[in-house]
Amino acid sequence: MCGIVGYVGHRQAAEVILDGLKRLEYRGYDSAGLVISDSERVLNVMKRAGKLKVLSDAFRTQPLTGTLGLGHTRWATHGKPNDINAHPHLSEDGKLAVIHNGIIENYLPLRARLSAEGHTFASETDTEVLVHLIEAHYQGDLVAAVQAALREVHGAYAIVVSHADHELIVAARATSPLVIGLGQGENFVASDVPALLPYTREVIFLRDGDMALLAKDGVTVTDFGGVVLRRDSAIIDWDAEAAEKGGYPHYMLKEIFEQPVVLQNTLGGRLAANGTDVTLELSLDPASFNRVVITAAGTAYYSGLVGEYLIEKLARLPVEVEVASEFRYREPVIDSRTLVVVVSQSGETIDTLEALREAKRQGAHTLAILNAKGSSISREADDVLYIHAGPEIGVASTKAYMAMLAAFELLAIWLGRARGTLSAALAAELIAELRHTPALVEAALKAREQVAAIAEAFKGKSDYLFLGRGVNFPTALEGALKLKEISYIHAEAYATGEMKHGPIALIDDDMPVVAIATASALYDKTVSNIQEVRARDGIVIALASEGDEAIKAHADYVITAPRTMELISPMVNVVPLQLLAYETAARLGLDVDQPRNLAKSVTVE
Ligand code: G6P
Repeated sequence: MCGIVGYVGHRQAAEVILDGLKRLEYRGYDSAGLVISDSERVLNVMKRAGKLKVLSDAFRTQPLTGTLGLGHTRWATHGKPNDINAHPHLSEDGKLAVIHNGIIENYLPLRARLSAEGHTFASETDTEVLVHLIEAHYQGDLVAAVQAALREVHGAYAIVVSHADHELIVAARATSPLVIGLGQGENFVASDVPALLPYTREVIFLRDGDMALLAKDGVTVTDFGGVVLRRDSAIIDWDAEAAEKGGYPHYMLKEIFEQPVVLQNTLGGRLAANGTDVTLELSLDPASFNRVVITAAGTAYYSGLVGEYLIEKLARLPVEVEVASEFRYREPVIDSRTLVVVVSQSGETIDTLEALREAKRQGAHTLAILNAKGSSISREADDVLYIHAGPEIGVASTKAYMAMLAAFELLAIWLGRARGTLSAALAAELIAELRHTPALVEAALKAREQVAAIAEAFKGKSDYLFLGRGVNFPTALEGALKLKEISYIHAEAYATGEMKHGPIALIDDDMPVVAIATASALYDKTVSNIQEVRARDGIVIALASEGDEAIKAHADYVITAPRTMELISPMVNVVPLQLLAYETAARLGLDVDQPRNLAKSVTVE
């Protein structure tokens, strides 16, 4: 949460920073600011509440020049999103600037002490204590002052600091992500890789407890005590274009349409030539577990619910799925015979990271299903299964969810084959269908027109109900989540068979009900439940398999999905629901890629 960009080199720092912040705006977008050190070694600051554009527009009318600077997009934790609380925060003499992502947990006692010592606070933020603390320790050596200050704070944070008297950026990481970009005569620091892609592919991912000193001619990484650490650089293979909109009006739409290609990347090289197995480079021994626990947040959690269904069915292992923020505080009963699977697009979600750490403390073997390479979770998990979805910029996750589903299909088949619970015949059928999923998802995208008509008809509604059962209950949950995230329409999802136990009271002739009724073993029961809605004058939007003519008699609107195996169907069925959310939000003129109050990567509790 919060985007950080720092630059020192030969270019105009503000250009690099504003460009980088734009690529990180998904991390927070309630206010933004930058500080530039000019040729006279004076720090000039500009901060604005609102989207980055407000800052960029202000900057165009009053540019700040200089080749060293720091910038920030904020996702407020302490203090309202206004100009004053926006970062950077400066010392009273204007010589020291600090930008921060995360939370300084002991800021209240520190603030009280510093105030008593005569420091005057301008903002309501926890960040500002860092400024005063570093200032209090500063005696000409910026690095030493930062080290001394950090010894007094605790929390999860990433900071970048500059001082008018030094051509240097000091960065430090305690949990919240920071990545260094290495250039020729210039160096960069950012919260995430997309900010660096136009300038360099060579990066160093800082680890917890790392400090980095960036000058234009070099970068040194030390611990918080100043001991120099060896950190190898990595080369990033994402291309910058993949992080651009490529002609689509929104990143989200682009990412929805990228899903067929994403599936090729997730599945690529993992479906064995024999047609009955998958190849995964995992160190875990499938025979050594008697249980699987899946934990994650948000959309990644819903992919885990599909994973539960697949693993139980194909590998006959008991599976539990829990949101990470609950799991980590629950004293979960796990041991060395438990496989704990964490799922995350960013690899930085603090709840998921801490859940992973809890699982490791309890002796479980941990497997991470991840998108972002070099992320915190990637370094701490025993095994990693990368989903290869590429950069996902839209805050509402779409292509990463698709790739997570594909990863669970692979994992379930792999476990099932290794444990002897999945026959070669069923494995062959599933694998053949998986090979076909890029084409199936491509075909599912064709529902856009049908979906657009529905979005138009119901864009003014305030509530929606989504129903799905079995492996598509999570699809209903994800459909409802997408709609509420980006259109702000209240949407609930229920297991279809559970509707009669409560939500049926809500059914009237005003609330649209999206019922997933694609081909499945329980199709007839689903149709009966749909009839129960209709009998109460409910508006039914049925998602049905191609060729299902009978459904028309039971639904006001039908969305057609390509026919596929039930176990594969969540990958196909989610597509029209993503489009429904998109088409609704776009019609309401809402900010699809950066919905209010959300952030893509939540690195605070
Ligand atoms: C945030 C985002 C969600 C995302 C969740 C988990 O809440 O808004 O879209 O699903 O975090 O993120 P992760 O990066 O761990 O998959």
